[in-house]
Amino acid sequence: MSLELRAVTKSFGALVANDHIDLKVGDGEIHAILGENGAGKSTLMNVVYGLLQPDSGTILVDGKEIKISGPADALAAGIGMVHQHFMLIPVFTVAENIVLGHEKTNKFGILELTKAKEEIRRVSAEFNFDVDPDALVETLPVGIQQRVEIIRALIYDAKVLILDEPTAVLTPQETDELLRNMKILRDKGTSIVFITHKLREVQEAADKITVIRRGKVVGTPPVTASQEELASLMVGRPVELEVYKKAITPGPVALAVKNLNVHDITGRRLVKNVTFDVHEGEILAVAGVQGNGQSELAKAIVGLEEFMDGSIVLDGKDITTWSVHDTLYSGIAYVPEDREHDGLISSFSIAENLILDTFDTPPYAKGPVMSPTIVAREAEVRVKEFDVRLQSVQDSAASLSGGNKQKVVLARELSRPVKLVVASQPTRGLDVGSIEFVHQRIISERDSGKAVLIFSTELDEVTDLADRIAVMYRGEIIAMVPATTSREDLGLLMAGVHPEGTRS
Ligand SMILES: Nc1ncnc2c1ncn2[C@@H]1O[C@H](COP(=O)(O)OP(=O)(O)O)[C@@H](O)[C@H]1O
Ligand SMILES: [Mg+2]
Repeated sequence: MSLELRAVTKSFGALVANDHIDLKVGDGEIHAILGENGAGKSTLMNVVYGLLQPDSGTILVDGKEIKISGPADALAAGIGMVHQHFMLIPVFTVAENIVLGHEKTNKFGILELTKAKEEIRRVSAEFNFDVDPDALVETLPVGIQQRVEIIRALIYDAKVLILDEPTAVLTPQETDELLRNMKILRDKGTSIVFITHKLREVQEAADKITVIRRGKVVGTPPVTASQEELASLMVGRPVELEVYKKAITPGPVALAVKNLNVHDITGRRLVKNVTFDVHEGEILAVAGVQGNGQSELAKAIVGLEEFMDGSIVLDGKDITTWSVHDTLYSGIAYVPEDREHDGLISSFSIAENLILDTFDTPPYAKGPVMSPTIVAREAEVRVKEFDVRLQSVQDSAASLSGGNKQKVVLARELSRPVKLVVASQPTRGLDVGSIEFVHQRIISERDSGKAVLIFSTELDEVTDLADRIAVMYRGEIIAMVPATTSREDLGLLMAGVHPEGTRS
C-alpha cells in the first residue's frame, strides 16, 4: 500500500510545525523521516494517524484521497502507528491491551480474548517476536512492549506502519533486532515510516529518506548519502561529526563514591552498593538503558536524594550529607536531566538564570546588591558563546524552547570554576550542531583538569566522550571498561549480559 501526503500544513498558534509537507511512501518500502528534535516529525505522523487535524493539505492511500478523523479511520485505512511513548496499560496482559484499545474497530469483541491470543501467537511466531499473550505488560522489558505495539498494529492489518523514534528506548542489540524485523516486514509487503534522528539507523535500514527541518521538507537524499551529508541537511549547515580528543594523563582522584545506596520513599533500592572514582582530567561516562538508576546516582552525588547511605568524597572532603546548595557552591557543576524543573527558575530572566549560582559574589554584586549591567553583559557573552537563540536576555527563562533552555543550563554550569562536572543526558533535545559544540566543550573542561562524570543513554555519546565507561544495570555498576570497548560488548552489558573478558 502506498501513502502520499500533499502540502500538509499544521500550525500551533504562530508556530508552523508542518509547512506544506509533501511525502510519498511507496509500497513495501522503509521510508525514513529524518529530522532534529522539534522538526515536526511527530506532528506530521499524528496528522496521518488522525490524532491531529491538518489545517490544510491532503492524504492519499493508494492514490485515493481519504479523510482521517481519528485513529479508527487510520486503522480502517490500513495505517498503524507505534508512538514515541507507548500507550499500553501496564496492569493489563498483552492480549487485554490488544483487545481493549480498539473495540471501535470491531475486530474483536471485548470478551474475545481467546481469538486475540491466537492471533498474537500467530504474528509473534511469524516474526520471532517471542511475546506471550498472557504476560502482564508491566513485567515486560521495553523492547518487548514495543513488539506488543507492533503486533497490535499488524493484527489490525496495518499495511503502512509508522514507527515514531522506535529505537530511542532500545539497547543496540534490540535496535539491530528491530531493524531486522522492519526489513522482514517490508519484504512481506508492509510499508514502514521510520522516524528517527539517528544517522546510522537511516543508513542501515532505509530505502528512501525524507529530511525535515523546521517544519519543511528540505531534501530526499539517496540512501548512499554520507552521515555528514545527512547531518548538514538536517541542521542546515556543515557539521563536523568527528569528536577530537587528545590523550591526557588523568590526575589524582577528584570524586570517590563508595558503597552508595539510594532508596525511594517506599524503601526500594534504586542504586545498589555503587563504588567508583573519577580523576581530575578524566571523563567517566556511565552508560545504560534509561531507568537503571543513573538519574538517582547523579542526584545523590549532588545532594538531591534523601534516602541514601554510603560515602561521597569530593577533593578530600566528605560531602555525603551536604545539601545541593552546598555541593553546588563547593565545586560541582550540575547539568540535570530535567532542566525544566531542576535546571532553571522559569520566572527569572535568562540573564539571571545564566548566573544563578554566582550572582551574590563579585563581580556581579558588591555587597548584597546585584549589578544588573554586569549581569547582563556577562549573560550576553555566554549567550553568544553557546548560541542560545532568544529575543532578549531580559526575557523570562520560560520563554525559551527546550533546546535553548538546555543551552542556558550548560552555559552557566560549564562556565563555573569547579572541580567536578556532573552532567545527565547533556545533549538530550539538542540538534546535531549543538551536540558537536557541547561535546567539544565538555572535552575542554576535562583538558583543563576538571573531573567529568557523564550519564548518557546514547552509546555514541558515551564512546565519543569517555576515557573510561561504567555500565549501570538495575541499579548496579556491573562493569567498568575501557573507552575502546566495542558497541556490541557495551550493548550486551547494558542488557545485563557479561561478554567474554569484561567481568569486573
Ligand atoms: N500540541 C502542541 N502544541 C503546541 N506546539 C506543539 C505541539 N506539538 C508539537 N508542538 C511544537 O511543534 C514543533 C514540532 O514538534 P514535533 O512534531 O514533536 O517534533 P519532532 O517529533 O520532530 O521532534 C515543536 O516546536 C513543538 O514544540
Ligand atoms: Mg517526535
